[in-house]
Amino acid sequence: MTDSPFDVAEIDRLLTTTRTVRKRLDFDRNVSDQVIFDCIDIAEQAPSGGNDASRRWIVVRDEATKQKCGEIYRRNGAFMIDVAERLAGSGHGKEQVFSSSAYLVEHFAKAPALVIAAIWGIHDDSGRPGLFDSVIQSAWSFNLALRARGLGSAWTTLLNASVDELADILAIPPGVTTIVTFPVAYTKGTDFTPVARRPAEQITYFDRWGYTRARASEDGGTHFEDGPGVVAEVDIDAPPKAVWPVVSDITFPAGADTELRDAEWVTSDRGVGAVFIGHNKLGDNEWSVDNHITAFEDGRVFEWSTVDPANPGARWRFEIMDQGVGSRVRFSVEIGMENNLTYAMAMDSDDPVSVLNGRRKRMKANMQNTLDAMKAVVEDARA
Ligand SMILES: Cc1cc2nc3c(=O)[nH]c(=O)nc-3n(C[C@H](O)[C@H](O)[C@H](O)COP(=O)(O)O)c2cc1C
Repeated sequence: MTDSPFDVAEIDRLLTTTRTVRKRLDFDRNVSDQVIFDCIDIAEQAPSGGNDASRRWIVVRDEATKQKCGEIYRRNGAFMIDVAERLAGSGHGKEQVFSSSAYLVEHFAKAPALVIAAIWGIHDDSGRPGLFDSVIQSAWSFNLALRARGLGSAWTTLLNASVDELADILAIPPGVTTIVTFPVAYTKGTDFTPVARRPAEQITYFDRWGYTRARASEDGGTHFEDGPGVVAEVDIDAPPKAVWPVVSDITFPAGADTELRDAEWVTSDRGVGAVFIGHNKLGDNEWSVDNHITAFEDGRVFEWSTVDPANPGARWRFEIMDQGVGSRVRFSVEIGMENNLTYAMAMDSDDPVSVLNGRRKRMKANMQNTLDAMKAVVEDARA
């Protein structure tokens, strides 16, 4: 950090507080062309495939033209108003985003400028660089530059569902793709804050898909001290409440998992502090282990730690994410140094990392089997 030529804290503040702004767009304050030019000049510093400068920016200022764009936005976004009304007062995780999105649907054309980022090219699935991947980074820089100047916007794509109509209104020639439209305005106040996102440790995979580290490795190598883990995920076409009974059923993985053979509750309660025993078999090796429930949130989280919750052999965790249209189930494990199978096997070997990764490969397959079985059971029950 000390090598940085920047005020890192200030730059990080910009990067972490550039939010989607809708209800706090100030439609009554004019935005000069100059500030838009300045932000586009900054945005154009972003890389593009082949350095071929194919991006084009369309700024809609004319009132009648804005109204036409607004009409398309309203038509394509009408569903958001319906959803917002349905979710109003429900406390649902997406209530706010739909309320805010619906507000923008009704007020889109009031923004002093609609700025569209476009590019020469049509997506042909060729895998060549130069289309979305030559616009996204630039468009985000534009957004950051706005925020740095007290303006704000929302990344919107609803106009893209009517490209022909849009092309007609704005005289966009064939061969050009519009990627994003920003309703640009000064913001009402400039105090925006970072939001909770899943931490890097949970969504960053090292060397193989699904291989995590609970803590940063000091030398970049794989070490038990850093909490090596595995993640598997599945999307289930059912709401969290339909998935929860399967996720919180301790015997379920026994059917799909090739190591866990059976499980039984030791305690009569089921929340944090409850204990169950898991019976396992790998080759000729059979063992049973105490599992302590370490997180239990109805419909969301079911987590247990083996051996000792304060110093687990492994921490297993199911999480159900409400995707609005279904559930994403995340099954993860962090392997601890009290692990008398993986850790012990690795320590017995002169190549502990290979042993660990061999175990991880197997765990990942078992975990994915478990999730796939859950998906089948839940979706079949609803079919
Ligand atoms: C590809 C993409 C498309 C989006 N489309 C729309 C849209 O059409 N309308 C809208 O109001 N917001 C849209 N958004 C904004 C997201 O809803 C927003 O990023 C999300 O709610 C997170 O809010 P935050 O940016 O403040 O963290 C889009 C965002 C992305 C990345």
